[in-house]
Amino acid sequence: MKKLAAGNWKMNGTRAALAEAQALTAAHPAPACEMLLCPPATLVAALAAQAKGTALMTGGQDCHPKASGAHTGDISAPMLKDAGATHVILGHSERRADHGETDALVKSKAEAALAAGLIAIVCLGETEAQRDAGTTLQVIGTQLDGSIPAGATAANLVIAYEPVWAIGTGRTPTLAEIAEVHAFLRARLQGLIGAEAAGTRLLYGGSVKPSNAAEIFAVPHVDGALVGGASLKAADFGTIVAALSA
Ligand code: 13P
Repeated sequence: MKKLAAGNWKMNGTRAALAEAQALTAAHPAPACEMLLCPPATLVAALAAQAKGTALMTGGQDCHPKASGAHTGDISAPMLKDAGATHVILGHSERRADHGETDALVKSKAEAALAAGLIAIVCLGETEAQRDAGTTLQVIGTQLDGSIPAGATAANLVIAYEPVWAIGTGRTPTLAEIAEVHAFLRARLQGLIGAEAAGTRLLYGGSVKPSNAAEIFAVPHVDGALVGGASLKAADFGTIVAALSA
């Protein structure tokens, strides 16, 4: 399995930010890992066009469960695909919190992504209160069971474990805590999709930086990262790509 370095730009970036992606592909023309940036929807087509012929792939940050229709402001999976995207992030905790996304909705979006030929990156993670209460594995297990699309395989599904309290805070779980969750996810996924689970990428996300990437990537069952803030600068994300390629 090739590891995956995925960047989530969230609601950051205008066309000027494409220069960072340009610098990234210039510095990493042939990384040993897969390299993906998920810019705001306004930049998906431009980034995909710019990155054509390079190792950089482009993804969306959300899609609607339907392919088209009267849904003002929404973007469908076939539209992302048409714009040049290969992946789409779904069920990020910011969308679960800000837009009330449920596991069932995330699952329907992921099924739309698969139907459009996109790879679904399904995000899961516990809040700080849930971790403190000792319910992390229970919460994540429920999210996984409820969010995984029908027809998921190692080729069309990526899981991202992102503890909510680690996102944008500079705090990360201990390596043992990451190991516990990722081993749990692998086993639970096997119950859901069988042998495909072994080859499904399990990403860690939440305050991944150049300074902690290598130690996190050495944790068993960590097959890459979903990076927020540190994906905005080519130098920082490039260092993370290099750590994953080592
Ligand atoms: P940070 O890397 O900024 O903590 O964000 C993580 C994240 O939410 C990626 O989806």
